[in-house]
Amino acid sequence: MAIATSSFLCFLLSCSLLLAHGGEIADSHHHVIVTNSLIPAKTCTQSPKVSGSNQLRKLQVVHINGPCSPLGQGKKTNLNLGQILLQDELRVRSIHSRISNSKQSPLADSKAKIPAKSGRSLGTGNFVVNVGLGTPKRDLTLIFDTGSDLTWIQCKPCAVNCYQQNEPTFDPSQSSTYSNISCGSAECTQVGLATGNSPRCSSTCIYGVLYGDNSYSVGFYGRETLTLSASDVFPNFEFGCGQNNRGLFGSAAGLLGLGRNQISLVSQTATKFGKKFSYCLPSTSSGTGFLAFGNQVGTSSSSVKYTSLLTDSRGNSFYFVPLLGISVKGQRLAIPPTAFTSSGTIIDSGTVITRLPPAAYAALRSAFRQAMSKYPSTSSLSILDTCYDLSGYNTVTIPTITLHFGGGTGLAVDSSGILVVASLSQVCLAFAGNSDPSDVAILGNKQQQTFEVVYDVTGGKLGFGAGGCS
Ligand SMILES: *[C@@H]1O[C@H](CO)[C@@H](O)[C@H](O)[C@H]1NC(C)=O
Repeated sequence: MAIATSSFLCFLLSCSLLLAHGGEIADSHHHVIVTNSLIPAKTCTQSPKVSGSNQLRKLQVVHINGPCSPLGQGKKTNLNLGQILLQDELRVRSIHSRISNSKQSPLADSKAKIPAKSGRSLGTGNFVVNVGLGTPKRDLTLIFDTGSDLTWIQCKPCAVNCYQQNEPTFDPSQSSTYSNISCGSAECTQVGLATGNSPRCSSTCIYGVLYGDNSYSVGFYGRETLTLSASDVFPNFEFGCGQNNRGLFGSAAGLLGLGRNQISLVSQTATKFGKKFSYCLPSTSSGTGFLAFGNQVGTSSSSVKYTSLLTDSRGNSFYFVPLLGISVKGQRLAIPPTAFTSSGTIIDSGTVITRLPPAAYAALRSAFRQAMSKYPSTSSLSILDTCYDLSGYNTVTIPTITLHFGGGTGLAVDSSGILVVASLSQVCLAFAGNSDPSDVAILGNKQQQTFEVVYDVTGGKLGFGAGGCS
C-alpha cells in the first residue's frame, strides 16, 4: 500500500529516485532549517518519552555539558567545538589503534601532532545517565559508552587521586553489599583482558584502564548492587571501584560500559535483558533522551528498521554494522562497495562526528558542496573541511543524507545530524573522512540523534527507529 502510493507520487512528480533502493522510501530531498535554531538553547526541554509515568524503567539521557545535565550547570567545564573535535579525534585514533588491520606503520600518519595512543577510547561528546549503586542506594551520574566494557566509578578513600565530581564520592565501606573480587579469580582475569592491562594483585584484584587521551582509572575490582530502576536491580554487579582517577570525565562519577565484551553491563545483565538495549540521543544539547533495556527496547518508535549487527575478530568490544552506501538528495553516490568492505564500520555512542572511508567521504563532500553551492563557504574547523558562513540567512536549505545498510535499511540522518555549528558564520558538514582506507569507519552520535537505536545483540541485529526521543 505504502509502496503503491509512493510509486504513484513518483509517477506524478517523476521523482525516479524515490524508490531506487530496494523499495526503501526515501524522504524528500531537502531540509529547510531556521538558522537561529542551530544555536543551542540555554534551557532544558524535557522529552515526554522519558518523563511520562509509564516510562519509569527508562533512564534519562542528557548531554554531559548541556542545561539538562546535573553536571553542566554553572560549571566552567564546557568545551568549545574546536576542543570537542580534538577530543573526538583522540577517541577515533584510539579506536583505530584498537581495531587495526595489522598495519605496519601507525606512525606514517602525517597529522601526527596528536600521537596515536593504544589506550581505551574516551572522547567528550558524551551523554550521561543516572544509576543507583550500593545499599543503601546512592545515585550516580555516569558517562555511558558503547565503546567501553568496564563500568567504574570513583571510590573513597580515593587512596591516590580522585578528580572533582558533582555528587558525593561513593564510599564502599558505607554499603552493606560491596565486596572485593579476589586476585586469582576468573573475573579478575577477564577484567585484565577487557582493559588490555594485566590485573595486579594486592590482597584483591586491581584493575587499570587507560584512555586514549591519557585519562585513566585504577582501583579495586569489586561487586555491588546496581539499581537501574525499581524493578531492575542487579546484585553482585562487577565494577571498578576507582582509587586513582584522572582525566576528562566532566564531573561525572564514572563510566557505564555498554560494550560487547563479557564484563560489560550488557553482558552482566544478559539473563534479564537478553543483551537488548536501546538509546535515543536528543537533537540538541538542551534536550533529553533515554537509555532502555530488555523489553522496554523498541517501544519508543513505531517503525524500527533493522540491519545486521556483525562481529569482527579485530575488536570484540565493538558493534560492527554493514554500512554499504550513501545517498545525498535521494541520489545514491557512486562509491565502490570495497571502500566500505575493506574498512568495516562500527556504531559508537561516544564518537561525535561520523568517520567515513576516504573514498566515501570524498563522494559525500562533493555532492554536499554541489547542493550547497549558493552559500558562501568559509574556513575549515579542525577535522571538518566543508564549512559555510550562514550569518546572512534566516533559513538554509540543505540536502538530505541517507546512510544505507545491509538488508535495505536506510538511516535518513536527522537535519540535526547533518550540520555542526561553531557560530552562524561557521557551520560545517558534520562528517569527516579517515585518512587511511583500512581504518574502521565509525557511525558517530551526531548522526544517531533523534533515532531510537536498538542493539539486539543476541538477535544479531541493530535497528533505527525514527522519532525516538520526542
Ligand atoms: C577491599 O580491599 C581493600 C584493599 O585490600 C580493603 O581496604 C577493603 O577493606 C576491602 N573491602 C572489603 C569490603 O573487603
